[in-house]
Amino acid sequence: MSQHPETKAIRLQTPQTDQKEHATPLFLTSSFTYESAEEMGEAFADDTLDVNIYSRFSNPTVDEFINKVAALEGAEDGVATGTGMAAIFGTFMTFLNKGDHIISASAVFGSTHTILTKYLPKWGIECSYFDMNNPVSIEALIRPTTKMLYVETPSNPGLDIIDIAEVASLCRRHNILFVVDNCFATPAAQQPLKYGADLVLHSATKFIDGQGRVLGGVVVGNKDLIKQLYLFIRNTGPSMSPFNAWVLTKSLETLFIRMEKHASNALSLAKALQGNPKLSWVKYPFLPEHPQYEIAKKQMTNGGGLLTFELKAGVNGGRKFLNALKMISMTNNLGDTRSIASHPTSTTHSKLTEEERVAVGITPGLIRISVGLEHPDDILNDIMQALDKS
Ligand SMILES: Cc1ncc(COP(=O)(O)O)c(C=O)c1O
Repeated sequence: MSQHPETKAIRLQTPQTDQKEHATPLFLTSSFTYESAEEMGEAFADDTLDVNIYSRFSNPTVDEFINKVAALEGAEDGVATGTGMAAIFGTFMTFLNKGDHIISASAVFGSTHTILTKYLPKWGIECSYFDMNNPVSIEALIRPTTKMLYVETPSNPGLDIIDIAEVASLCRRHNILFVVDNCFATPAAQQPLKYGADLVLHSATKFIDGQGRVLGGVVVGNKDLIKQLYLFIRNTGPSMSPFNAWVLTKSLETLFIRMEKHASNALSLAKALQGNPKLSWVKYPFLPEHPQYEIAKKQMTNGGGLLTFELKAGVNGGRKFLNALKMISMTNNLGDTRSIASHPTSTTHSKLTEEERVAVGITPGLIRISVGLEHPDDILNDIMQALDKS
């Protein structure tokens, strides 16, 4: 009997042990034992055998987490990592070789930008950026050596959106691996594999955990690709801890219901802020004024939990706004039950030049709100009183 994703997020579970536990057990063990020397020998002889040896290679709790994310994303298989960045770096290292070329959206998370521009060139891998708002520019960047195309949709922090199906068909025509960071939407709102992406990855630290507790990353896709990635992660070491996997698999049980509430809180907040005289604009994927609203509606079932707005008062206004907040947290994480405000220009992106910031959509008064699960009136009231002082 096939089950809905909402049910799989709750019911996919490690087989019950003889203790008859109801909640999923935590296999906090670094290694596993064997009945005989022969069995141990066999386990080591074949890299891809489905047997637990050592928790850097595999672990039942981590497997449960992987299986759930794969089921929610509609993937055959997956690999879990210690952080989202390990998932991204592992994906680049597994599928890119010296002399290869990667095309990436310029609007990507800061550390991803650092890998693309600082580290990949050390190994002779070149990167070209394209503007998410101008996807027709991608084709001209394709070279015979182009092996991968990388996007975040919606992007962090600009909330730019790209048509996954269109990019996937371009990649297919040119035999390019298409990788999507689905961290902002989560599989509860968007499944990029359904639209033709080859690999989907996440910082599980964000909405998948949803409560700001543990770090984690995960990549899902077809068995062939995942096997290659699995061997890279297993041998180089950025594996997920069983404890974090246990926290994250429990979190997935509430992912759908949380994402619905994050999104409804964010949409009502976005609507309430539209037209505020202190703001030049408000951006949220499910506001008709979003430049890629039609695409968002086509490939997402809700607009997610992030919104941005631009303070007319610029950089100083941004600082004053953060300082005036009474409830909303000032922190750089996102995807928590608690609403979070950040001002990229004076914090995460302060080392970039003004020109570099504008090129990736970070304007001086840009505020990013990760809308939490508090009562929407309380979130709005805090923002309104802080706007008055900014
Ligand atoms: C879109 C996106 N991808 C990747 C990452 C990196 O994830 P982690 O912090 O778990 O390494 C982040 C972190 O903020 C992110 O926002």
